[in-house]
Amino acid sequence: MQQQIVLASRNPGKIEEFRELLAPLGLTVVSLLDLPEIPDIVEDGDTFYANARIKAEAVCQATGLSTLADDSGLVVHYLGGAPGVHSARFALPEAGDVANNAKLLSVLEHVPEYKRQAHFTAVLAWARPGGTTRFTTGRCFGVIAKRPRGDHGFGYDPLFYMPELGKTMAEIDNELKNQISHRAKATQHMLLMLNATYSGCSAS
Ligand code: IMP
Repeated sequence: MQQQIVLASRNPGKIEEFRELLAPLGLTVVSLLDLPEIPDIVEDGDTFYANARIKAEAVCQATGLSTLADDSGLVVHYLGGAPGVHSARFALPEAGDVANNAKLLSVLEHVPEYKRQAHFTAVLAWARPGGTTRFTTGRCFGVIAKRPRGDHGFGYDPLFYMPELGKTMAEIDNELKNQISHRAKATQHMLLMLNATYSGCSAS
């Protein structure tokens, strides 16, 4: 019998990405697009862990099904970790990527390159009915550039410069991003955990 796992997201790109990643496990991935009765969940945690947990446990409780949820963002060391969990709304609520990037450039205007280190973090939470919630994390390190470069990706990608590649995250294609990104790393770790539980579940 094929088992189901819920992905606590309404983002079609993310849903597709997780469907592909989870395909080898033989799981049916149900997303919040398939469950319109589940209301929006308020992500008011102070950490990526807290927000991932809030989403995973709320949806697990509502559906009675094993649930995955992620939370991610940009951590700038000079800014004491900001924008962090506020990455999506750094400039203003609903401000969007262009305004967020403009604000980041402005608050770092006089900060020299050697103090512009940053990383993206992604946390994945896996909540199971009657079980404890488990987490995995992925990080990707870089430097905040002085001006945006590249058209790929989203969010802070045009300002996230990776010295070892000589490129911003927006200058690499999706295939490479999906190998090196914070989300890819957190997902690979989660797959190891899921694999131990679900491997071969479609065979029976
Ligand atoms: P969420 O986890 O999808 O809600 O992402 C929160 C915010 O973090 C996004 O709106 C982006 O601003 C930022 N972010 C997360 N991951 C990335 C990434 O891979 N590239 C650029 N920005 C990202």
